[in-house]
Amino acid sequence: MELIAQGRTADVFDLGDGRALRRYRVALSAEPEVRVMRHLETYGYPVPHVFEADGTDIVMERVKGGTLFDQLVKEPEQYERYGRLLGELHERLHRMSAPAWLTGPDSPRDAVIVHRDLHPNNVLLSERGPVVIDWNDVAAGRASVDAAITVIVLLGAELEVEATVAEQVDGLRSLLVDAFLQTCGVDPRGGLDEAIAYRRAIPANTAAENRWLDKVAPDCLDAFYLERRGA
Ligand SMILES: Nc1ncnc2c1ncn2[C@@H]1O[C@H](COP(=O)(O)OP(=O)(O)O)[C@@H](O)[C@H]1O
Ligand SMILES: [Mg+2]
Repeated sequence: MELIAQGRTADVFDLGDGRALRRYRVALSAEPEVRVMRHLETYGYPVPHVFEADGTDIVMERVKGGTLFDQLVKEPEQYERYGRLLGELHERLHRMSAPAWLTGPDSPRDAVIVHRDLHPNNVLLSERGPVVIDWNDVAAGRASVDAAITVIVLLGAELEVEATVAEQVDGLRSLLVDAFLQTCGVDPRGGLDEAIAYRRAIPANTAAENRWLDKVAPDCLDAFYLERRGA
């Protein structure tokens, strides 16, 4: 099997025939996220079609196209379009109430489906439009928390790219957030504390990311609202 990508938690292989296998390297069941993916597909939200799932494995449609992140590196001048696109994917997702089987004792009232890792590396740009992947962190939650998580990733996550590109992409961070906030449909300030706590608990964070979460993240939205939106 040809390895397409190796991510944080999973390996993705090409199976031919337009199919891809995503396999967790850790003892995680893919079944909960597959149930959500099938639910989302039924409601017209763009996710890869799932053919079958078993234990750590998902056999799904291989989406043809690069990530939104790759496209941003290629066309940095299009940041406004891509930031807005990311916001629209949030807004569309959060129109969907969380089904009862996704909610737990800690779910808020009126919970919606939240992705909790919806950033430019988890969006593939295909012929049929953008497709959202990597549903491992899906839950029933609040839209503002989901949007705040994305803002935190856009502003504070370390980039795994070459230094030359990193500098260029670094310059786009706040421009992307500004465009994202125009379309995401929610004010993420109400979800910021919960989003910081959520991101702080990720074991794979670097020391620099954790420092950023502790020192910078609590005030990271102020500039966008106070200086740019006057609210
Ligand atoms: N259905 C798919 N079709 C094509 N490529 C995919 C698909 N799913 C994942 N990939 C590729 O594998 C990479 C990692 O997958 P992802 O689900 O985001 O796992 P991780 O949790 O490791 O980030 C993606 O960035 C993408 O390049
Ligand atoms: Mg991913």
